[in-house]
Amino acid sequence: MTILHIDSSINGENSASRQLTKSIVGRVRRSNWGEQVVYRDLAADPLAHLTLDAFADTTAIDEFLAADVVVIGAPMYNFTLPTQLKAWIDRIVVAGKTFQYGANGPEGLAGGKRVIIAVARGNVYSGEAPAAALEHLETYLRGVFNFIGVEPEFVVAEGLGISPEQREQSLELALGETVRLAA
Ligand SMILES: Cc1cc2nc3c(=O)[nH]c(=O)nc-3n(C[C@H](O)[C@H](O)[C@H](O)COP(=O)(O)O)c2cc1C
Repeated sequence: MTILHIDSSINGENSASRQLTKSIVGRVRRSNWGEQVVYRDLAADPLAHLTLDAFADTTAIDEFLAADVVVIGAPMYNFTLPTQLKAWIDRIVVAGKTFQYGANGPEGLAGGKRVIIAVARGNVYSGEAPAAALEHLETYLRGVFNFIGVEPEFVVAEGLGISPEQREQSLELALGETVRLAA
């Protein structure tokens, strides 16, 4: 089994999403023997914005297609995903490889793998929160992975910017979630 571990936070050691992906990958590794981990740090080693020529480099999509489990750290920047993570998405959503158009419209071709996404947000967007309509991170990632045939699982830590106490509490809850998810 192969795990693809992706981080995209610019916050290094202080990153909540990095803490969460580390915990998820650690737990998936402990519950599966013989796995291989491929690590991509999109903040330290960013992919260039998409160009037509960039499609010739298939490294990112090859890694994605080869993985059984994909663990992604997704911090919210300006209500959506970091551009570094968007550049990676642009490399893996490829007609004929991860989706195709058939008689009934688009069909996802990347099914059969587990995608676990660790979301970190400064404000609160879940439920009836006043800012809920500005949530374009989790909704976007669910939509794009559904489009290629994957139902992603989410671990969410939010309200991280509200106070140190709320940050600690939210992170603790999300880290607890990673135990349940990886089972
Ligand atoms: C450039 C930037 C933009 C951000 N924009 C938002 C935002 O739109 N909404 C929000 O709730 N938090 C926002 N935040 C806060 C982050 O989502 C929060 O710090 C989160 O913990 C980031 O994940 P990380 O800890 O893994 O880096 C922003 C942070 C940065 C650095």
